[in-house]
Amino acid sequence: MAPFMASRCGLRSLGARVRHAGGRKAYFCTETPALYPHPVSMVSGASRGLGLALTEKLLTQHPESPVVATCRNPDSSQGLISLKERFPSQLTVLRLDVTMEDTMAAVAKEISNKYGRLDMLVSSSGVLHIPDQMEPEPKLANVDPKNLMFAYRVNAVGPILVAKHMMPLLKKGLGEGTERGGAVVANITCKMASLRDNLLGGWYSYRASKASLNQFTKTLAVECQRRKENVICVVIHPGVVDTELSKPYQRDIPPEKLFTPETSAEKLVEILDSLKPEDSGKFFSYTRQEIPW
Ligand SMILES: NC(=O)c1ccc[n+]([C@@H]2O[C@H](COP(=O)([O-])OP(=O)(O)OC[C@H]3O[C@@H](n4cnc5c(N)ncnc54)[C@H](OP(=O)(O)O)[C@@H]3O)[C@@H](O)[C@H]2O)c1
Repeated sequence: MAPFMASRCGLRSLGARVRHAGGRKAYFCTETPALYPHPVSMVSGASRGLGLALTEKLLTQHPESPVVATCRNPDSSQGLISLKERFPSQLTVLRLDVTMEDTMAAVAKEISNKYGRLDMLVSSSGVLHIPDQMEPEPKLANVDPKNLMFAYRVNAVGPILVAKHMMPLLKKGLGEGTERGGAVVANITCKMASLRDNLLGGWYSYRASKASLNQFTKTLAVECQRRKENVICVVIHPGVVDTELSKPYQRDIPPEKLFTPETSAEKLVEILDSLKPEDSGKFFSYTRQEIPW
């Protein structure tokens, strides 16, 4: 196998050797086959809203870097179908339901076969309401165990299980080719998950499930640090974004505080690109300020 620069293929996973070439250190991979030479990102919940805008922003901002976009029904996402026409080789669209672990395993296998690495996982899937089925609870009397459990499954359990399945690939990716110095797990949360910020009450299932997502992400960050895994784990609040999720509750939002998905995605990709290992375990706002837990 022709040697190639290890900085483009994942040093630790490939058992690279250091050779001295003309007085300069050069790293050559000598064992397993090449990992894909550019950072690979995955966005879950990419069918619409913020996840779709994040997918588009990543594709345009980093034209050589592939994006794997996942959602429950790829064939019915017009947004992803259009993106696939514009970025036929850079974008891969796969089916993943965050309530079905076998779909996560299948996506991990596909990414492994195609790229052998993953450098960034962004989980944007989430649920707040479902017409005629589920609504945010203004008061305790509205709390319903079925909706509590469903929010918990989609908003908290789903993203941590996706992270579990992608972790072997993230350990190989390490963000090489970027300035981050680590792979990234970024879970999209909301400010309403903050216990300190909870002054108005209500929204039991959404607040609690996102607070749980925050705790899962913080716990994963601590585990990665203790095991010396170079994976930066953060939660990010995207602002109030004009999507189907927020539509029924936008009445009191001043226009300057209601972002288009594209505006929010731009702010989030800026944060994602600027992350450093010391950011792991933090709860960021779209401004990059930290939000108290
Ligand atoms: N919009 C806001 O103001 C706001 C504010 C703070 C935080 N957030 C967070 O931002 C993220 C994106 O929300 P959004 O505003 O873009 O909402 P959205 O337009 O309603 O999109 C939600 C996404 O989650 C996916 N999803 C729902 N259930 C799923 C499941 N079981 N498996 C896989 N995917 C599933 C949806 O896919 P389907 O098309 O298959 O349903 C869709 O892609 C969410 O985590 C949300 O909590 C949003």
